[in-house]
Amino acid sequence: MRRLNAPGPKAKAIIERDAKVVSPSYPRVADFVMDHGKGTEVWDVDGNRYLDFIAGIAVNATGHSHPKVVQAIKDQADKFLHISSDYYHSQWVTLSERLNSIAPFNEDAVSFLSNSGTESVEAAIKLARNHTGRTGFIGFLGAFHGRTMGSLAFTASKAVYKNGFFPLMNGVIHAPYPDPYRPMLTTRPGEAYGKRVVRYIEEEILGRLMPPGDVAAIMVEPIQGEGGYVVPEASFFPALRELCDRYDILMISDEVQAGMGRTGKWWAIEHFGVEPDIITSAKGIASGVPLGATIAKKSIMSWPEGAHGNTYGGNPLACAASIATIDLIEESYLENAAKIGEYTMDALEEIKMRHPNMGEVRGRGLMIGIDFVKNHETREGHKQMRDRIGELLFEYGLLMMGCGPSTMRFAPPLCVDQDEIDEGLQIFEHVVTLVEKE
Ligand SMILES: Cc1ncc(COP(=O)(O)O)c(C=O)c1O
Repeated sequence: MRRLNAPGPKAKAIIERDAKVVSPSYPRVADFVMDHGKGTEVWDVDGNRYLDFIAGIAVNATGHSHPKVVQAIKDQADKFLHISSDYYHSQWVTLSERLNSIAPFNEDAVSFLSNSGTESVEAAIKLARNHTGRTGFIGFLGAFHGRTMGSLAFTASKAVYKNGFFPLMNGVIHAPYPDPYRPMLTTRPGEAYGKRVVRYIEEEILGRLMPPGDVAAIMVEPIQGEGGYVVPEASFFPALRELCDRYDILMISDEVQAGMGRTGKWWAIEHFGVEPDIITSAKGIASGVPLGATIAKKSIMSWPEGAHGNTYGGNPLACAASIATIDLIEESYLENAAKIGEYTMDALEEIKMRHPNMGEVRGRGLMIGIDFVKNHETREGHKQMRDRIGELLFEYGLLMMGCGPSTMRFAPPLCVDQDEIDEGLQIFEHVVTLVEKE
């Protein structure tokens, strides 16, 4: 297995220039300076080739520069780049129709388009307040919903995101996420852990901290992303839905990372048999062109003209890229994510048997997390090992990123094929073996 000589001289020169003029707040995971990409492969400016198993953090759903997406952007660019959300255009309407057709609701869906995940979350927060006339919210520990002042109030994955930024938006209380691998709460005999978390919300949060009549919505990731690719215990969502219905609280499913086909279904919430009231989407929705969408049941997106808006809403380039992306996911990548995802999970389970520090392998479709542990019994996370594996993977030509305290994530483009997975897994196992020996 070949170790790359990266970063090379061209990459080093760009990194040096970057350090002088780009905000130092950006966390960088590796010295990868991109030149170009095709599908699941990317090349740096010195000609080093990598397999991309992170896809710009679950963004390049259709792979790098898919010709159909590129063509759709070019065709649109030849016509016009912008007209502002004060006027109409057909791409915007077409995309909203497509989102309506795939939204996980039993009634029609209406969409508000923006430019990023955090904006889609901000719109959901405002919509929930506007629709219910209530101001409070419940979120979850370990969650990531963005970094603007409203979404940041919900984000609870790392303290650094909040350090120096208080006061945030008021009125958000956090519950434990229903992580069955590392449960925070003790259960009664026979009580499923997801139901236990919902009981915590009802007894401790609604019962002691914030009365239900003040709670507009519960914001939840259907599978936690930055928090560690954590899949909730099965009883959680049905119990949460029932609680929301009982107290007229809205359920917002943040699908920014888990949505758009990544888990083998259009929306990750569909794995859990419940309907949310609002979903937020971004990342994979337009294959890399910035686009956010807040998609709500028609009966809920009832706010009046002027209540919310933006200059770039429905940006034609982003809409064109998104329509092409949805076409491709519908044609084959949804099925591919489910099929190749299952293959990858099975292969990782097999690799895990040979490596005692590999803890839980979890996920759905092509959203897969591998937790590293010091000890299988205590399940204490092995952050140093995870971090070292991340460093070495880069040196061996595989782009991957960590998430949560001790997890590596697999989030390749949805077009990834079995040969690429096999190649990536060979590198992965080689690196795990090297780190075990260190
Ligand atoms: C679940 C979730 N919500 C919201 C966001 C914020 O998205 P953005 O970085 O586009 O603002 C992210 C980003 O990682 C995310 O994973």
